[in-house]
Amino acid sequence: MRRRLIPLITMTSLILTACGGADSPASQPAAISGAAAGQPLFALNCGECHGQDGTGTDEAPGIGGHDAEEVIEQVRNPVGDMEAIASEALSDADLQLIAEFVASLPGEEAHPEISPSEEERVHLVAAYEAIEDYEDMDREAAINHLGQALAIATDEAAIAIYEELLEAVETGKSGTTRHELKELLGLEEGH
Ligand code: HEC
Repeated sequence: MRRRLIPLITMTSLILTACGGADSPASQPAAISGAAAGQPLFALNCGECHGQDGTGTDEAPGIGGHDAEEVIEQVRNPVGDMEAIASEALSDADLQLIAEFVASLPGEEAHPEISPSEEERVHLVAAYEAIEDYEDMDREAAINHLGQALAIATDEAAIAIYEELLEAVETGKSGTTRHELKELLGLEEGH
């Protein structure tokens, strides 16, 4: 009888330890606590569009691979379809923590340069048009056209990118595909 109590007691003390840890963030190293403190702020202010983990949604791209400065610049003076968030709505201090969290996310630094053939371009444009408006997307058409671009591509870098773009559409993260295609097809100024 006595022995059956042991796992319960162990679990209780584990839970107590976890709660106690959350009460003392001041004891954590500064770099870790900045990104950690930014995570819930990110979820609250940015997660609806960029996903709770920052990997994107159908509405907005994944944002790993940006440094803190780029994040702050994008939030205050955005490029593209994102609206600015003013300091009255999000303080500089909170934005700094969010930026540190985003900078801690994994992601590629730069978008590799590729030159799609004319035929590939036709399919990429069609795929872009199919997901251009996130509230009225034709996911099947985008998957179809990205698949066709993939089928005729011969350049390895292009194949890798088309695979990524296709996977994002398939997994409900078309925001990444829309964003990348806009850059790839030269439909966006200022980037
Ligand atoms: C209402 C939706 C929405 C919210 C909220 C939002 N964003 Fe965005 N964000 C977007 C969209 C859409 C884009 C893509 C812009 C484009 O490509 O035209 C974007 C782009 C970005 C980019 C640039 C991505 C790139 O690869 O160039 C960064 C960085 C970013 N957002 C950070 C943030 C942060 C940090 C927050 C919260 C403080 C935030 N966003 C809140 C919709 C949103």
